[in-house]
Amino acid sequence: MKEFEMLSALMKRGADFLQVKYPIICGAMTWVSEPNLVAAVANNGGFGCLAGGNAPTEILKNQIAEVRKLTDRPFAVNLITIAPAYQEHLKMLADVKVPYIVFAGSFPKENEIAIAKATGAKVLCFASTVSIAERMVKFGADGIILEGSEAGGHIGHVSATILMQQVLFKFANQIPVFMAGGMATGKMMAHVLLMGAAGVQLGTRFVMTEECVAHKNFKEAFIRANARDAVATPQYDSRLPVVAVRSLRNKSMANFGALQLRLLRELEEGKIHRQAAQEEVEKYWIGGLRKAVIDGDVDYGSMMAGQSVGLVDRIMPIAELFNELLTDGEATLQEVKAKLQ
Ligand SMILES: Cc1cc2nc3c(=O)[nH]c(=O)nc-3n(C[C@H](O)[C@H](O)[C@H](O)COP(=O)(O)O)c2cc1C
Repeated sequence: MKEFEMLSALMKRGADFLQVKYPIICGAMTWVSEPNLVAAVANNGGFGCLAGGNAPTEILKNQIAEVRKLTDRPFAVNLITIAPAYQEHLKMLADVKVPYIVFAGSFPKENEIAIAKATGAKVLCFASTVSIAERMVKFGADGIILEGSEAGGHIGHVSATILMQQVLFKFANQIPVFMAGGMATGKMMAHVLLMGAAGVQLGTRFVMTEECVAHKNFKEAFIRANARDAVATPQYDSRLPVVAVRSLRNKSMANFGALQLRLLRELEEGKIHRQAAQEEVEKYWIGGLRKAVIDGDVDYGSMMAGQSVGLVDRIMPIAELFNELLTDGEATLQEVKAKLQ
């Protein structure tokens, strides 16, 4: 990578860790990150994550085999710790053995990380506070994904700029940290690498690639959207805790308010238990995601997208996306170098 000389130097640690050319991760996206996308990312020198999501175990197993048919490069499987088949997914991975496992949803238990590592996989975990990062490192995580609330899908409460100062600066020398949430341009990538990140994870931008199988309505909505259209869902009342979802404003987003109010009323009247109410909320978003990504229903589907949707207005092949990120990243480092001389 002579032409990306400075960038390569900063990327080396993350590239070695992920065993890829570029430590640019295509984050797992339920329904979106299927075998074709994962393999296409890998074959272009990046790192793909197959979304385990709520998939039945047999389907996930077949998808892993499919990825392997399409690429011989490393990839990860993303497990959602709150998914109904989570424990089964974990067991299945002991048989099929994948090189990397990413835990998402909530935070994995120590024995779950141990099970994952016993399969020979390297383990990546999300960590949104210093204490969670400390716990994940203690449990044996090999890498951390630090995702700001700008990201698409289920999100935490804190923006990337704050997380960088709280977690990245503290842990960057100890463990590879991959920054996610709004990392959509080569310029941003160069700057977070300078700040100590081992690499970046992008989601929204990979939706806008030719290789992504999402319905064309889904992609076209991304083209039209501005950053302010990717809004986070509020929680109305602490009796019904909901994990915030960042999604494009549409009828489904508007109706979510009514759903929360109905569930709160039913909770008050003792007609539903809290867990069942929370499950209904989850079903609303995950079921809606299939509707949006596969069926192309942009009104009533969940249009999960990060605020970086406002930085992108074109669908391109993955090779072109990587070339753009690398070229702009290297140019940014040249500018930084010139400023310091
Ligand atoms: C449509 C969509 C679905 C997602 N599903 C998942 C998921 O299943 N598991 C997960 O860990 N992250 C999920 N994410 C988060 C992404 O993997 C990634 O971290 C995030 O999109 C990064 O922020 P960005 O969109 O600003 O690049 C999803 C994001 C989107 C946009």
